[in-house]
Amino acid sequence: MTRSLPSFALRAGGVALAALLGTATPAPAQPDPDTIVNAFEAVLGPVRTYRPSHPKGTCAARHFTATPDGTRLSVAPVFSGQRNAALIRFGVAGANPNASDSARGTRGLSIRFESPTGDLFEMANISAPVFGANTPQALVDGLLSRANDPATGRPNPERAAAYAAYVAANPTVGNQGRYLAANNPPASWATTPYWGVNTFLFRGQDGQVRPARWVFEPRAGVERLTEAQMQSMGPNFLADELRRRIAAGPVEFDMVLQFPGQGDDVLNPTVAWPEDRPRTVVGRLVVTSVAAGPGGPCDPISFMILDQAPGIEMSDDPVLQARAAAYAVSLSRRTP
Ligand code: HEM
Repeated sequence: MTRSLPSFALRAGGVALAALLGTATPAPAQPDPDTIVNAFEAVLGPVRTYRPSHPKGTCAARHFTATPDGTRLSVAPVFSGQRNAALIRFGVAGANPNASDSARGTRGLSIRFESPTGDLFEMANISAPVFGANTPQALVDGLLSRANDPATGRPNPERAAAYAAYVAANPTVGNQGRYLAANNPPASWATTPYWGVNTFLFRGQDGQVRPARWVFEPRAGVERLTEAQMQSMGPNFLADELRRRIAAGPVEFDMVLQFPGQGDDVLNPTVAWPEDRPRTVVGRLVVTSVAAGPGGPCDPISFMILDQAPGIEMSDDPVLQARAAAYAVSLSRRTP
């Protein structure tokens, strides 16, 4: 399914993106949030104490302030230009709370913003420009293709073959794996970009609604592990490296919006938009403190609230549409 949006197409009012795009065929039914979290559990066991995705992580904090362009492009309270408190979680993707910091895979940057007026906005971003599933059903099928069949204690070969056939027919699903194979893991949580991946709708001060994706660019620059460091750094260097770095000064990221051009797919998070699309710096995230150990105030948060802010609204991207309710189910299952 490829739908594109002309670069000049903006909208005013609450028109759904699919309507704006014209002849949208009805979207196929997608799994409900319980079915999605059940699929995580089929692979990992019961979600009880920690997140089924990015379970390894470290909590950090400080603030986010919009640039004047950010204030112009979004009426959301977080973009007012005043300083927002930010609760931040740096994570390591996968399902293993003891995952190695040196292994290939995505790293996470999750943020809860709290404006001076008490408005909350949350997001969870990854260190790859694309996701590994083009629909929620594909995510579930991918998980279940790896799950052990209770009857045999091994993955079901027919399920695995059906998913392999799906990937062959939908090659963009492999884009994230190709990106990670070509880009070694970051040398620090502070030296990688983090992408929001899904398309959101930014309602500006001028009343227009612009589809956009965001990326947090590290002001320290991009630095990745060498092949030798991937062998030598060990499994747990990221948290201490961040603590040492922050003891010497703040860690900062610029939040950058990217806008789609002619032919860009706005509804499929496995496809990145070309680098030359228009970009605007809309804010700066500053991190000045890191938790001394695991746990802390990030644990009871899922970093994806059901009710996103007016001014930063969800697009019809089916993967984005499935996220908030699944995160809420996951949070409720892991909350004592
Ligand atoms: C159908 C799509 C998706 C589903 C069903 C899904 C599901 C989940 C669930 C259940 C959690 C654990 C939530 C919790 O217990 O607090 C989670 C965490 C996470 N997800 Fe997703 N996810 C999806 C797509 C994405 C995408 C596109 C991204 C990249 C931007 C992403 C990035 C993350 C990150 C970074 C975390 C860890 C958040 C934290 O630090 O607490 N996910 N996801």
